[in-house]
This record gives sequence, structure tokens and C-alpha cells, in this order.
Amino acid sequence: MPDAGLKYLIRGLGVALVGLLLPLAALAAGPSPEAIAKAKLANEQCFACHSQEGLAHPPQADLDLAKLRGLLVDKPTFEDADHGKFACTKCHNEGYDDFPHEKDAADNTSTCQDCHAKKADKIQAEFDKSVHAKHLADKFSCTTCHDLHSIKVAKNQDEARKIVAQDNRICLGCHDSDQTFARFAPEKKVRPPIDEIHDWLPNARTHWKAVRCVECHTPLGGDMLSHEILNKDRAERKCVSCHSADTSLKVRLYRHLAKQEQEKLGFMNSVVLSENYVIGATRNLALDSVMIGLVALTLLGVLVHAALRVLMHTLRRRKKDD
Ligand code: HEC
Ligand code: HEC
Ligand code: HEC
Ligand code: HEC
Ligand code: HEC
Ligand code: HEC
Ligand code: HEC
Repeated sequence: MPDAGLKYLIRGLGVALVGLLLPLAALAAGPSPEAIAKAKLANEQCFACHSQEGLAHPPQADLDLAKLRGLLVDKPTFEDADHGKFACTKCHNEGYDDFPHEKDAADNTSTCQDCHAKKADKIQAEFDKSVHAKHLADKFSCTTCHDLHSIKVAKNQDEARKIVAQDNRICLGCHDSDQTFARFAPEKKVRPPIDEIHDWLPNARTHWKAVRCVECHTPLGGDMLSHEILNKDRAERKCVSCHSADTSLKVRLYRHLAKQEQEKLGFMNSVVLSENYVIGATRNLALDSVMIGLVALTLLGVLVHAALRVLMHTLRRRKKDD
């Protein structure tokens, strides 16, 4: 028995080591560290002006600082974002290497279409059916909602609250601000107060912190969140669609988080669980608790058993001595 236990322990450790090394190997397969370092270094040239630092200590005189103030890019946010490993000049193609920048440099900025052709087509088709397409098609583009210097989409995040905060900031930026709404609204359209429209939802503001607008305002289905924003007639209003065991949030907000678990589970399943159970590997709290409980019980059992034996032994000795 102790031999078998030792064998499993060693095997378990071996598998855990492989489990640690494989993801590391996968990471290394991304853009090479040299390429990333090169882009980072090149970006310093732009950050020399387009940062708080640059604004405080401009590298050259006679810059339009008032204008520059509205054109800052936050370095930590940028580097953590989905496009953060790029050189700025990957998208700001020509005309920005020197200052003053060339007059029509902005015309050369890459579009989503340039790099994400297939996805962008699909999304554009969904957007064309969206509430915003009817009157605002010429005012809306992908960058109306997506800031390429900060975007980090759900599937690259690991905390629901952060996803909710990021995505709702997009919608509330207009729907909770008279000023911004008016800039985009068709003529004379008054912004409907967001709390009044949703007064049937208890504690609407609490909901905004825990679920996204798109949870209720997009159709279900598909392998990617739809960009077809639904109007009041088609938006979700049934409480049980979320407040139930089979919550629709599983395929919405928690889709990627669940998928991440699954990927881990699938991997762990095939490699680890086929032979051993490694506590923590399944990321299944219930199972883990049961296993930890069993281990504790076994230990306790051994201790109680030993204690009883000692006790019985002493009792027997006493009896004999009597
Ligand atoms: C010496 C300071 C300086 C450097 C270096 C600099 N910029 Fe600028 N940039 C500015 C200022 C100031 C503006 C405001 C508009 C103007 O005065 O041309 C600006 C404007 C811009 C704009 C907005 C242009 C528009 O038409 O709306 C972009 C995009 C931009 N810079 C990108 C870059 C990139 C990318 C780099 C690095 C390759 C860079 N800049 C390097 C100072 C700088
Ligand atoms: C993945 C592509 C991409 C990368 C990488 C990128 N940008 Fe941009 N940037 C854009 C797009 C697209 C716009 C235009 C947004 C719009 O249409 O309003 C933009 C706009 C800007 C502007 C104009 C002001 C604004 O916020 O609208 C500045 C300044 C700027 N970028 C600087 C930078 C700097 C500095 C870097 C590198 C640290 C960088 N960008 C990296 C795509 C990119
Ligand atoms: C210069 C090329 C380039 C441009 C321009 C560009 N992207 Fe990307 N984008 C990429 C690459 C490369 C990735 C990383 C893809 C990956 O990891 O599989 C990425 C990742 C993303 C992601 C993360 C999710 C995912 O599928 O990995 C989103 C969202 C995204 N881009 C949206 C946009 C949007 C919106 C625009 C236009 C406003 C845009 N991108 C413009 C190259 C680009
Ligand atoms: C009305 C605002 C809005 C507009 C306009 C918009 N998006 Fe989005 N987009 C969102 C929101 C909200 C999400 C969800 C972000 C997330 O996954 O965290 C999203 C997600 C995405 C994703 C990630 C999808 C996924 O599940 O991996 C991509 C890629 C993307 N958008 C590209 C685009 C492109 C390209 C355009 C222009 C054709 C565009 N978006 C226009 C709001 C918008
Ligand atoms: C850039 C500003 C802006 C952003 C960002 C934005 N909206 Fe809108 N939205 C508007 C305007 C303006 C209207 C009014 C359009 C009209 O009347 O044709 C509107 C209309 C709507 C409507 C229909 C309501 C009506 O009055 O007809 C819904 C639903 C909606 N938006 C939801 C969303 C959601 C969900 C998001 C985030 C994914 C979002 N919006 C992001 C500006 C915005
Ligand atoms: C729990 C689901 C749910 C959430 C979350 C939600 N909505 Fe709604 N929303 C609805 C429903 C249902 C209606 C229709 C209400 C009615 O008919 O009175 C609606 C109505 C609207 C309208 C008016 C639509 C019209 O056609 O007049 C706008 C604008 C809107 N929502 C924007 C948002 C924004 C922005 C958010 C995120 C801050 C959001 N909603 C979050 C379900 C939701
Ligand atoms: C799109 C999904 C969704 C829909 C639809 C939805 N809810 Fe919620 N609701 C949530 C989430 C997520 C929370 C936050 C749970 C948490 O953080 O503990 C919540 C929280 C609540 C709370 C607690 C609020 C607080 O102050 O703590 C109540 C009450 C509630 N919902 C009632 C309702 C009712 C009634 C409806 C239908 C009219 C409804 N919800 C529709 C997702 C939803």
C-alpha cells in the first residue's frame, strides 16, 4: 500500500510538472520576445510626446500642448491591451516618424478590415441590423465603440466584473451622458433616461455592475457575441433567463470564462485525471473539497486508530497490572 501511494505521488508530481511546462511552451510560440522588445523600444519614440511624461517635459519646443493633451496614450493600459505588443507604426503607418507629422498621415491609419477581414465582415453585417444602423450608420464606425489602445475583450480577461465594467462603459458613455448622446443622436432626439427605461428591473444600477447591456440587448447564439443591438421589443426582460440554474449568462458573460475552465479541464482530464486525481487540477471546488475532506478524514482515521491502539494497549497493561 505505501509503495503504491508513493508511485502515484511521483507520477502526480511528474504530470504536474508537464502541466506547468506545456503552457510555458505555448506562450513562447507567440510573437518572439525580440519582436516585442523591438516594438516596445520603437514606441518610446511616440511616448516621448504622447504621454503624461511627454506633456510635462516636451522633447522639443513649440508643440501644441493643448492639442497634445487630448492625444495621450496610457502606456501600462496599452501594453496590457489586445494590441499592446504592436509598434504604434503598425497601425499609424506613414507620416508619424517625424514631427511635425505629415498633413494627411491620419488617412493611412490601418482599419480593422485590413487585419481582421473575415471577422470584420461578419460583424459589419450584424451591425447593419443593429438599432444604431438605422439613423447613425454614417456616424458609427468600429472605433466609435472600440479604443484600440485599451481594448481587451472578454475572452482575454479572467474576471467577470472587469468585463462588465469595460463593456458597459462603452454603452453608458453615450446612454448616460446628455452631452455625448446629443453629439450622435439624430436631430431633436432626447436621451431617454437609462434608469427610467429600466425601472422594471430592481436595482438597475446594481445590475449594470454585474451584467452587461449586451446580455439583454443582443440575440443569443453564435460563437461570438453578436453586434446586433436589439430594440425594446426584442430585448430580454425575463428574470429567469438569468436567475435560474440554466442561466443564459453561461453562454454570454461567462462563455469564455467557462471555456477557459473547459480547456484547462480538457487538458487536465486527458493528461492527469485519466490516471490520478490531483487536488486543484480540476478547478472543481466541490470535487476538491470532497477530496480534501477525504484526505483529512483518512488522516484523522489513522490518528484515531493509532490513539485507540495506544489507549487499548495502556488499558490492557493496567488491567494486567491490577
Ligand atoms: C515631438 C513630439 C511628438 C512625437 C515624437 C510624436 N508625436 Fe504624434 N503628435 C504630436 C502632437 C503635438 C500632435 C497634435 C497634432 C499636431 O500638432 O500635429 C500629434 C498628433 C498625433 C496623432 C493625431 C493626428 C491626427 O491627425 O489626429 C497621431 C495618430 C500621432 N500623433 C501618432 C504618433 C505616433 C504613432 C508617433 C510615433 C511614431 C508620434 N505621434 C510621435 C507630437 C508628437
Ligand atoms: C492596432 C492598431 C493601433 C495601434 C497599435 C496604435 N493605434 Fe493609435 N489609433 C488607431 C486608430 C484606428 C485610431 C483612430 C481612432 C479614431 O478613428 O478615432 C488611433 C488614434 C490615435 C491617436 C489620435 C487620438 C485618438 O485617441 O483618437 C493617437 C494620438 C494615437 N492613436 C497614438 C498611438 C500611439 C502613441 C500608439 C502606440 C503606443 C498607437 N496609437 C498604437 C490604431 C492603433
Ligand atoms: C495591424 C493589424 C491590426 C489592426 C489594424 C487591427 N487589429 Fe485587432 N488584432 C490584431 C492581431 C494580430 C490580434 C491578435 C490576434 C490573436 O491573438 O489571435 C488582434 C486582436 C484583436 C482583438 C482581440 C480578440 C481576438 O480576436 O483576439 C480584438 C477585439 C480586435 N483585435 C479588434 C480590432 C478592431 C475593432 C480593430 C479596428 C478598430 C482592429 N482590431 C484593428 C491585428 C490588428
Ligand atoms: C455599439 C458599439 C460597438 C460597435 C459599433 C462595434 N463593437 Fe465590437 N464589440 C462591442 C462590445 C460591447 C463587444 C464585447 C466586448 C467583449 O467581448 O468584452 C465587442 C466585441 C468585439 C470583438 C470581440 C468579439 C469576440 O467575442 O471575440 C471584436 C473582434 C469586435 N468587437 C470588432 C468590431 C468591429 C470590427 C467593429 C466594426 C465593424 C465593431 N466591433 C463595432 C461593441 C461594439
Ligand atoms: C456613440 C454613442 C453611443 C454608443 C457608444 C451606444 N449608443 Fe445606443 N444609441 C445612441 C443613440 C444616439 C441612439 C438613438 C438612435 C436613434 O434614435 O436612431 C441609440 C439607440 C440605442 C437603442 C434604441 C433606443 C432608441 O431610442 O431607439 C438601444 C437599445 C441602444 N442604443 C443600446 C446601446 C447599447 C447596448 C450600447 C452598447 C453596446 C450602445 N447603445 C452604445 C448612441 C450610442
Ligand atoms: C436585464 C436586461 C437588460 C439590461 C441589462 C439592459 N437592458 Fe436596456 N432594455 C431592456 C428591455 C427589456 C427594454 C425595453 C423596456 C421597455 O419596453 O420599457 C430596454 C430598453 C432600453 C432602451 C430603450 C430602447 C428603445 O427602443 O426605446 C435603451 C436605450 C436601453 N435599453 C439601453 C440599455 C443600456 C445602455 C444598458 C446597459 C447600461 C441596458 N439597456 C441594459 C433590457 C435590458
Ligand atoms: C441578464 C441577466 C439578468 C436578468 C435578465 C435579470 N437579472 Fe437580476 N441580477 C443579475 C445578476 C448577475 C445579479 C447580481 C448577482 C450578484 O452579484 O450577486 C442580479 C441581481 C439581482 C438582484 C439583487 C440586487 C441587489 O441589490 O443586490 C435582484 C433583486 C434581481 N437581480 C432581480 C431581478 C428581477 C426581478 C429581474 C427581472 C425583472 C432580473 N433580476 C433580471 C442578472 C440578471
